[in-house]
Amino acid sequence: MKKTILSLMMMGSLALSAQNTPTQITIHADQAKTKIPKEIYGQFAEHLGTCIYGGIWVGEKSNIPNIKGYRTDVFNALKDLQVPVMRWPGGCFADEYHWMDGIGPKEKRPKMVNNNWGGVVEDNSFGTHEFLNLCEMLGCEPYISGNVGSGTVEELAKWVEYMTSDGESPMANLRRQNGREKPWHVKYLGVGNESWGCGGSMKPDYYSDLYRRYSTYCREFDGNKLYKIASGASDYDYNWTKTLMKNAAGHMNGISLHYYTCKGWSGSKGSATKFSRDEYLWTMAKSIEIEEVVKKHISIMDSLDPKKRVGLLVDEWGTWWDQEPGSHPGFLYQQNTMRDAFVAAMTLNIFNKYTERVKMTNIAQVVNVLQAMILTDGPKMVLTPTYHVFKMYKGHMNATNLPLDVQCGELTYNDKKIPAVSASASKNDQGGILITLANVDPDREQRVEIALDGLKSAKINGTILAGKGIDSYNTFDKPNEVVPTVFKGAKITKTGISVILPAKSIVALEL
Ligand code: AHR
Repeated sequence: MKKTILSLMMMGSLALSAQNTPTQITIHADQAKTKIPKEIYGQFAEHLGTCIYGGIWVGEKSNIPNIKGYRTDVFNALKDLQVPVMRWPGGCFADEYHWMDGIGPKEKRPKMVNNNWGGVVEDNSFGTHEFLNLCEMLGCEPYISGNVGSGTVEELAKWVEYMTSDGESPMANLRRQNGREKPWHVKYLGVGNESWGCGGSMKPDYYSDLYRRYSTYCREFDGNKLYKIASGASDYDYNWTKTLMKNAAGHMNGISLHYYTCKGWSGSKGSATKFSRDEYLWTMAKSIEIEEVVKKHISIMDSLDPKKRVGLLVDEWGTWWDQEPGSHPGFLYQQNTMRDAFVAAMTLNIFNKYTERVKMTNIAQVVNVLQAMILTDGPKMVLTPTYHVFKMYKGHMNATNLPLDVQCGELTYNDKKIPAVSASASKNDQGGILITLANVDPDREQRVEIALDGLKSAKINGTILAGKGIDSYNTFDKPNEVVPTVFKGAKITKTGISVILPAKSIVALEL
């Protein structure tokens, strides 16, 4: 009780200082040099709970409207998001997945138990063809996560051949027999997932050797160029990155990193929708800590790969709360509030800054799992606040990052400081500028002065995402509690742009 009162008092006084200090943002357009790869806005779809079955795939015979088995509402929402890349089939599931079980006539596909996620039966009706065809229909890059933990070198090598060979090879012929004449374009290949944990409980030296061995046999067929990704560290495990970079950097194009905004791996993770202000502040502080973590992994990579040849791929990130009451404990189905939207907005603003090294990120996960874009329940579907953030930010994809400085007030959580305003800016090939801003202060609006030269004749299209509270969320019955609306609080001044950023809001300005 004491602690809560104290922290509320502390927050109150610091929020006041955030209000009194106008936020100054200086955009250094002259220092722009790095493109934000579209893959920074990537997604992740695992055979976990109802992400694939029920969420993406219902089968052609379903009563739920579908396009070739993919549910129409979800497909259209993802198309609208312009998903750039999708990681599949896991996660932990990937290291128990045997791809040959998921090809050929559906009635002949063997079933398996999904040991990682709830012990449910997986019937393999969604396999390689279903995933790669989905990516083609969405116009996104597939990112295949290969099985190193329980699979063989031969199995992974043959999967690559099956997907990408155009020649007279045994696997290409098998693919043709299964109805697909031409190979798919597959660039991103993960060689294992969380190999220190669910992917095989390995030590970094041992995994380095396995990585070298498995990746050697993942061949490039008929002009298909692979981007090979080593299974990387979790959070603060800098030794994993260092060992892998020392032992195997020459064999990889990228190495991954996982970072969840999560209270811990045992015990309660907290409710997705019912949380105190203190828990809100904890969430903000924990989510922006990703910047320090990314920077430390980057500095290790810089010392061993100064030319930045190897990319860092944050291929799992996002919030992880307790599953919704009444839902299957192994399905990781959670609601998604404005708090989650702030985590997405601030994290994406951070990622945009480090794209000299960070080449892809994949939020976990796309539908019905963890910090999802979309929730479904039978025929019902709803878009989450996080979906709307991704949509508001999509103009950053393939645009050039405009470095910026933010001077603003701070909130605090214990000894952690949380800047009240988070920002990012980019310029696209047509000269259009996108500025994304988040005011995480739950109580106070922020007056923001943005210094940016050469804007006198610009027109501003503003969009704002805000709910009644930081815990507002959309449900199947009330899908419009948190949706983007037109924002009129920005105007061009002599020196740039002046913005009144309402409390607890996320704003995108297109110039
Ligand atoms: O995204 C859920 C799980 O989190 C993934 O399967 C695993 O890689 C991570 O531990």
